[in-house]
Amino acid sequence: MNQEIFLKDYEQPGYWAESVDLVFDIKKDKTTVEASTLFKKNKNNNIHAVELNGVDLKLISIKVNGEALKKDDYILSDDLLKLESKQEEFLLDVIVEIDPINNHSCEGLYQSGHILCTQNEAQGFRKITYFQDRPDVMSRYKTKIIADKKEYPFLLANGNKVENGELDNGRHFCTWEDPHYKPCYLFALVAGDLALVSDTFTTCENREVALEIYVDKGNEDKCFHAMQSLKDSMKWDEDVFGLAYDLDVYMIVAVDSFNMGAMENKGLNIFNSAYVLAKKETATDANFQGIQSVIGHEYFHNWTGNRVTCRDWFQLTLKEGLTVFRDQEFSSDMLSRGVKRIEDVRMLKQHQFLEDAGPTSHPIQPKSYIEINNFYTATIYEKGAEVIRMIHTLIGKDNFRKGMDLYFQRHDGQAVTTQDFVSAMSDASGFDLEHFSVWYDQNGTPELSINLEYDENNKSVKIVLKQTSNTNNSKFNYLAFPFHYSLYKENGEKFDLPNDGKIVIDKEELTLVINEIESLPIPSFNENFTAPIKLDYEYSETDLMFLMKYDQDEFNRYDACQRIYTSNIHKMIQALKEKKYYKISSHFIDAFKTILMDQNLDNSFKALAISFINLKEFNYSLDKFDLENSTKAFKEIKMQIADNLYEDFKEVYNNLHSTEFDLTHSSMGKRALKNICLSYIMASSRTDKDDFVFNAYKTSTNMTDEYAAFHLLVTENNKYKADVKTSFYNKWKGETLVLQKWFSSLAQADDLTINNLVELEKLPEYDKKVPNILRSLVGSFAMNNIVALNDVSGSGFSYFADKILEVDKFNPQIAAGLAKRLNHLNRLEGRRYENLKNQLQRILEQDGLSSDVYEIVKLNLG
Ligand code: ARG
Ligand code: ZN
Repeated sequence: MNQEIFLKDYEQPGYWAESVDLVFDIKKDKTTVEASTLFKKNKNNNIHAVELNGVDLKLISIKVNGEALKKDDYILSDDLLKLESKQEEFLLDVIVEIDPINNHSCEGLYQSGHILCTQNEAQGFRKITYFQDRPDVMSRYKTKIIADKKEYPFLLANGNKVENGELDNGRHFCTWEDPHYKPCYLFALVAGDLALVSDTFTTCENREVALEIYVDKGNEDKCFHAMQSLKDSMKWDEDVFGLAYDLDVYMIVAVDSFNMGAMENKGLNIFNSAYVLAKKETATDANFQGIQSVIGHEYFHNWTGNRVTCRDWFQLTLKEGLTVFRDQEFSSDMLSRGVKRIEDVRMLKQHQFLEDAGPTSHPIQPKSYIEINNFYTATIYEKGAEVIRMIHTLIGKDNFRKGMDLYFQRHDGQAVTTQDFVSAMSDASGFDLEHFSVWYDQNGTPELSINLEYDENNKSVKIVLKQTSNTNNSKFNYLAFPFHYSLYKENGEKFDLPNDGKIVIDKEELTLVINEIESLPIPSFNENFTAPIKLDYEYSETDLMFLMKYDQDEFNRYDACQRIYTSNIHKMIQALKEKKYYKISSHFIDAFKTILMDQNLDNSFKALAISFINLKEFNYSLDKFDLENSTKAFKEIKMQIADNLYEDFKEVYNNLHSTEFDLTHSSMGKRALKNICLSYIMASSRTDKDDFVFNAYKTSTNMTDEYAAFHLLVTENNKYKADVKTSFYNKWKGETLVLQKWFSSLAQADDLTINNLVELEKLPEYDKKVPNILRSLVGSFAMNNIVALNDVSGSGFSYFADKILEVDKFNPQIAAGLAKRLNHLNRLEGRRYENLKNQLQRILEQDGLSSDVYEIVKLNLG
């Protein structure tokens, strides 16, 4: 417990587990697991021992080559079984008993609703049997499941079904064989009474694959989008990367209790039901898009993750960063590339930049960890994807494809390192990526400050770019990254630039001198967010207004809107401090209106451009939170925009309103823009606004519209609040995914009290053991209600600390996820700082605290 593991200590095991035969006997009170593993000596070292991990297991018997071992033939501790061997090869038979029904950690074999399912990444398999629970041990699995036929008509495991049959006492069995070598974190088993929705896909290699989605009965009509997304993913990976599916069946099981989004188990994905189930009445457009990207993500793992896996968990970004990059590209091709990029960068800034600025900041390849489950982070995933994207930008699309081909040619069936990936990219493209690789080891968000001078006489421009962040690398003191920019003429055309404005920054300071620039240019830097950095350049408001109008780079055009808005918030806060009145300029209102009314702009783009940085993200951008002033400033600025353009918002809303529904980019864009307009209408000081929003709620015909209006009506003060709260609850209490939206919005109410939370927890639909429900209430409170959480009284912190300790007793992964919501200690002052610090200390002193929560809180306290 609380032991730090280091990358530099990696060493291969003494034996490899070649094949595993598993028999699961599922009974009411317990499950018996028999594992027969064939071990073969690893010729690369002379370690003559096997170390098997095991947690919460009851050891029944252990045999080597058929002979029972005596107590002193092996060493057994809380989490390890160690035995020595002189043999080149031996068969180990272990029988254990486990208790899935009382396992609430959502790890190993556990119960979700009435079905049994597994989650083994990163280290859940050790809760199933004694095994080398490490990703470099790859074996062939055969799995037999025996259970009561009525209670568990479906018995699923990885690979292809090879046998099934009836047994006495109403029991039956099913045997599965997976022909592919895999690490144990990809093992999966499901037993349950489910509904099956099926389809087929014929691969480019002419293999007919059965596609099967298993859900709770009654949810069959909510699987069509997941199924379509699966078929689209399969086709996309063939078209773009030449990668086809490799088994006869692809199964997806939706479960309600799941710690994260989904899991790419070979041939048997297990999904959080939120990423499978959707129909227009119950799911928002954001939900539909989430399903498409997560279905894609897990499918793409079949090659990047499963066929080629990680040598150890320090390599996690090898599969996650790459697979996120692949799912981002997939969604871009399915919907809109420009809009997807804006959404992805927005996410990156909201989550990864915050993480990198806080106590758990780490490189995409960490050097050490206490609890690996704490490292499934925005950094490993999203920043990891940005690093892959930069390689793609540096070497180009065609070389990237060659690099992927080479990677699979070299490493199919292996467990490898991030360096192996970079080498394949480098060898295939002829591009030296040694300096670039420093990104793998460097934490923090790099900053680039830019100075631009125009020389009127020589008609030239000088741009000085300076990196302000040093690396920890002994050879390269600064990072290397691609950087794209443009210089604009006043009429909106671009000046010609050397190499089209595409450069690589690889030293502390770089000076560009560009000639034949006839007039003072307006620059657009880091186009398409080429590199995941912070840009420090003093844009004038006129320049930003120009870019809002003319920038041909969709991302930077969006970003210009964001910059003007943020600068207005700062000005408003300054005015509040000086007790002055601040009015946003009519130029800004005009520019805003131009975007809003522009008939040629994509509606999804417009929706993003006019929805701004939130209160929380803004406070994180300050050294110390300024909750009082920023809350007022946000309200006031939004109100000024809303009051100035009230009729325009209504007009756009009414024009876009439609009762027809489909999932095209264009229809989703209309709904997105319409509902942003609704939020401005709600923010205005007009007297008829509540009626307008309430009417939108009442007449809505899909969840996107219904939820948008509902959220506004229950988070802000208005005469409909109480009624809407009750009507939505009564309508949806039987649909847990929708009810979670209800909890989530209520926890974000601007007048929320801790007592409200306590009352909500008492509802019969509330269940802290179901991670989605817990996150929808307690998680949403801490994540989104920055005002209530940070209340000076300390009541928010003490309630939340209680929740962390309560949950830690049965689900440490979720408890640690909650604990990360307190990582802003150093951004607080005075009583807030003292209150939070006391709560963190109280958590740390708790007996039996998990290593998960310990690691997070310890780092936070510094
Ligand atoms: N590999 C899964 C995915 O990204 C996530 C597994 C998360 N595991 C965890 N312990 N948090 O699709
Ligand atoms: Zn993943």
